[in-house]
Amino acid sequence: MRAHNAYKHPDLASELKKMVSSPTFVKWAGGKSQLIKQFNPLFPQQIENYFEPFVGGGAVFFHVMQEYKPKTALISDINSELIDAYQVIRDSPLDLAKLLKQHKAKHCKEYYYKTRGLNPDSLSKTERAARFIYLNKTCFNGLYRVNSKNGFNVPMGSYKKPSIPDEEDIMLASKLLQNVKIKNMHFSEVLNHASKGDFVYMDPPYYPVKEGKSFTSYTANDFSADDHRHLAEVYGKLSKKGALAMLSNSDTPFVGDLYSEYDITPVQAKRMINSNGKGRGEVSEVVVRNYREI
Ligand SMILES: C[S@@+](CC[C@H](N)C(=O)[O-])C[C@H]1O[C@@H](n2cnc3c(N)ncnc32)[C@H](O)[C@@H]1O
Repeated sequence: MRAHNAYKHPDLASELKKMVSSPTFVKWAGGKSQLIKQFNPLFPQQIENYFEPFVGGGAVFFHVMQEYKPKTALISDINSELIDAYQVIRDSPLDLAKLLKQHKAKHCKEYYYKTRGLNPDSLSKTERAARFIYLNKTCFNGLYRVNSKNGFNVPMGSYKKPSIPDEEDIMLASKLLQNVKIKNMHFSEVLNHASKGDFVYMDPPYYPVKEGKSFTSYTANDFSADDHRHLAEVYGKLSKKGALAMLSNSDTPFVGDLYSEYDITPVQAKRMINSNGKGRGEVSEVVVRNYREI
């Protein structure tokens, strides 16, 4: 009852929003917001230097920044449009928020397809970031899919009220991104940055539950079984260096074999369970750690 009344008070409501919300600014396949509660007991107790080489929508990153306040952080992703958007949020949040407001005001089917048809190379970095976030929030299921010429080709979604971030959301994300290193690099390069005692969270595109099937596509390149083997090698090297590594993946025999020498904890996630996107169900995923209670 109290919380309900608090929400009616404008100042309190906005304070509560800041306290409880994660300022993720895109909807991202495999996003981890719903798993944060199950992750909390699995994180190390203190995080001084944080690394996240598959940052995606940043659900874990924003949580760690708010709860653990690490001294340094480095985030990265192979998706260059996404990484540009993080950099613009860090460096030009007000300009970005202004452009997003304009996109929101003009949003309709015709405007969506006109914006989708723009060549991102003809836009400024801030305009590109605004277009990327606008399309992400209004397209079908927040998917990121590009054609062979790298053109975004996801159809419009059917949201009555798409949740395009407002100035307050962008400013909060920007505040948490100050002093964060934001890179567009392959995951293996994390080895050049993380050292003993640092915490690395890795959330790669999952190994498919059914062989030969992958429902997620983030860039023109898919993540193959060889990429998973390569990642397990990187994980091993991080462990040898003395870095604390936590990794998410599907609960499959392939993943179990790759990480058999580490601590594996199952977690339950609600995910799309069939390819037409309609069915949702609980699936078991795993968290692999090279440490226990720290
Ligand atoms: C499961 S998603 C991460 C989701 C994120 N934890 C969240 O909460 O939104 C996997 C990410 O890995 C990125 N990725 C795919 N291949 C990569 C590679 N070789 N190196 C770095 N990032 C890669 C994708 O672009 C995608 O954003």
